[in-house]
Amino acid sequence: MLTLSGVTKRYPTGDRALTDIELTLPKGQVMALIGPSGAGKSTLIRCVNRLVEPTSGSIRLDDTELTRLSGSGLRKARRSMGMIFQEYALVDRLTVMENVLSGRLGYVGFWRSFLRRYPEDAVAEAFRLLERVGLPHAIDKRADALSGGQRQRVGIARALLQSPKLLLVDEPTASLDPKTSRQIMRLIRELCAERELATIINIHDVALAQQFADRIVGLRAGQIVFDGRPDELTSDILTTIYGEEDWDTSPEPADEPEREPVSYERRDIAGAMATGVAP
Ligand SMILES: Nc1ncnc2c1ncn2[C@@H]1O[C@H](COP(=O)(O)OP(=O)(O)O)[C@@H](O)[C@H]1O
Ligand SMILES: [Mg+2]
Repeated sequence: MLTLSGVTKRYPTGDRALTDIELTLPKGQVMALIGPSGAGKSTLIRCVNRLVEPTSGSIRLDDTELTRLSGSGLRKARRSMGMIFQEYALVDRLTVMENVLSGRLGYVGFWRSFLRRYPEDAVAEAFRLLERVGLPHAIDKRADALSGGQRQRVGIARALLQSPKLLLVDEPTASLDPKTSRQIMRLIRELCAERELATIINIHDVALAQQFADRIVGLRAGQIVFDGRPDELTSDILTTIYGEEDWDTSPEPADEPEREPVSYERRDIAGAMATGVAP
């Protein structure tokens, strides 16, 4: 179980990104964190894995107070948190298998992984995971030869190789076409159920969040303005989260070709809404 209490983050620039966040995430729950660009979604998940230091407040994962950790304690805690990013963060010149095995960096030590010597059980588990995410035929391909959806599958397998308790997922579908986005969200959802992982998915596509999450939390200007079930998210509440917008955009056809990656910051909310297909 993950518990945030009174979490506030103020950046040195003076930007107040999070104000007094209270949140409890039980084991096995998939929570979507929605909100406009700049609402504080990335800051929140980075406070959890301490890529960003919260200014005040407490963050607990089971019995561990994450905000007080440093050095080896922090490294150990980070191993229990899998991260999946929008930009996949793969090493292009390495193979799929090597990218997945790099998820074990924290366990095997720098030199061993630098020399690409991994324990047999890690290799066997990486094989199983690549099969599970639908890439058994791609293990020897270089990462830069993969499509966006395949790259994201590698990112998922890498995150799971650490056997995390918690998954932190930042905009996993922002560079993917609508059909691939749904496949990736479905895969994350199934894996979380299989492994009873608590999961925070930052996502600005409201329809996708509604289709695949157990719970939706809406952030606006660093504060939680909605916390409820997907079916409780009305257009009035969406207006509270995002401001005035026409929410009745019609969905695009599911089979459009994969488009060039776009920066999520440049996409407006209406466009983001339109990429989702209603359940
Ligand atoms: N490294 C940083 N330094 C200063 N301000 C930042 C930094 N990262 C984010 N911010 C600010 O914090 C706020 C929340 O940003 P972010 O967490 O990235 O939101 P989101 O992920 O919802 O788009 C924004 O006002 C943003 O400009
Ligand atoms: Mg973000």
